[in-house]
Amino acid sequence: MIELRNVSLKYGEKEILKKVSLTVKDNTIKAILGPSGVGKSTILKLMLGLIKPNSGQVIVDGTDITGMKESALYAIRRKMGMVFQGNALFDSLTISQNLGFFLRENMKLPEEEISQRVAEQIQFAGLEGYEDQLPESLSGGMRRRVAIGRAMIFKPHMILFDEPTAGLDPVSSKKILSLISSLRHNNNLGAVIVTHIIDDVFNVADSVAVLYQGEMIFDDVTEKLHESNHQFIRSILSDKILEL
Ligand SMILES: Nc1ncnc2c1ncn2[C@@H]1O[C@H](COP(=O)(O)OP(=O)(O)O)[C@@H](O)[C@H]1O
Ligand SMILES: [Mg+2]
Repeated sequence: MIELRNVSLKYGEKEILKKVSLTVKDNTIKAILGPSGVGKSTILKLMLGLIKPNSGQVIVDGTDITGMKESALYAIRRKMGMVFQGNALFDSLTISQNLGFFLRENMKLPEEEISQRVAEQIQFAGLEGYEDQLPESLSGGMRRRVAIGRAMIFKPHMILFDEPTAGLDPVSSKKILSLISSLRHNNNLGAVIVTHIIDDVFNVADSVAVLYQGEMIFDDVTEKLHESNHQFIRSILSDKILEL
């Protein structure tokens, strides 16, 4: 459903992505693994059409979005939920208000439908009892679950996660990863998970693309990672966590 074809991107003179190709199939979980600063968040921005490549194409559901106007991109983005690295919650809104915000402001759904969808996500994300709290009173893991619920509330086909376990303790990380796994089983959703943590990949990803120095050095089913002879992949498998 999402494809990058020979995508190259520079920020100023700095070459970030060099002819990167990648396919994310429906109903699968794809990890994009790479060290900090390699261009992982940039790939998510390309998938959402927030930035354009210097060359190559980004295809979503068979449509080339590379040259699309902002107005046409709205419909494309609606198919994709996004969970940002810092969660991007509204500090002054309660958990329920955070969950319902975009349904209310952008989609202008009736209040009844908003309440129903908010209640579904409260239950799904395990946030019962916290509906009227502010984000600051929740743990890091719970805030991440609110961000996931808020992305899910649109009923997207695909959900994009930027470093979903970064900054979380091991128990919270496990909970987030099992929530991500359950998305696919319960909702037939596909997902892209950008991460620099190898355990995330082995825990949830069907396939993994490894980005190193601007290039995709691996793109296959997760189990095959162990068969790679690439020095960088060998080193991350032995160290478990990538160098920052
Ligand atoms: N808007 C921007 N302008 C200039 N450089 C940027 C911009 N966004 C990111 N970069 C640079 O591009 C590289 C890749 O960034 P990013 O995609 O955020 O990496 P990652 O998510 O893998 O840590 C980094 O070196 C970063 O400093
Ligand atoms: Mg990033």
